[in-house]
Amino acid sequence: MSVYRYHPVTVALHWIVAVLMLLMLGVGTFVLEPMDNADPDKLSMLATHRLIGLVILVLTVLRIVLRRFMPAPEHAKTGSAFLDKLGQAMPKLLNIFVILMAVSGMVLGRMSGLSDALAGTTPLPDSFFEFSPRVIHGILAKLIMAMLALHILGALYHQIMLRDGLFQRMWFGR
Ligand code: HEM
Repeated sequence: MSVYRYHPVTVALHWIVAVLMLLMLGVGTFVLEPMDNADPDKLSMLATHRLIGLVILVLTVLRIVLRRFMPAPEHAKTGSAFLDKLGQAMPKLLNIFVILMAVSGMVLGRMSGLSDALAGTTPLPDSFFEFSPRVIHGILAKLIMAMLALHILGALYHQIMLRDGLFQRMWFGR
């Protein structure tokens, strides 16, 4: 069945994950990363970071599973086969990269003994860069930022240039 909008559950999950991702990328890059591991505030920052990262992982997997059972609009058209393909691939790629981001964080947490540090039994390592998943976590963050920028540019192109009301499909309404 063809519908005009995405299901409200899909819409809600999309925007919750979008806001949480922007928060995590911003705070992770500009606050967490420059903070010394000896800083007494680092542990609570990391506890929140890990919790939100896990919430993002669960909501993203839930959204991918639910999407299979919910009616969704046809893929939007631009008039360019290349842009149409890019527009179809980008949300899927973003989902995969978000999952990889959360998983790399979990692997980093496990390798660096983050749970023990949060429990107060061991100190944090001097630097997380002693562990290779830290490098992957950082590279993924930059790649996701670039992909998000493309994703937002694509949405704006539809909204402003093509005026096809693409944004309304990812919002609530009848
Ligand atoms: C989708 C979820 C996540 C996002 C968007 C995210 C984002 C980030 C960002 C942007 C950074 C800074 C990277 C840099 O500038 O090089 C970072 C660092 C870090 N993240 Fe995540 N993260 C996520 C999930 C997790 C999870 C689940 C854990 C742990 C269980 C985790 C643990 C860490 C650690 C330990 C650091 C290193 C902080 C440092 O170097 O001092 N992350 N994360």
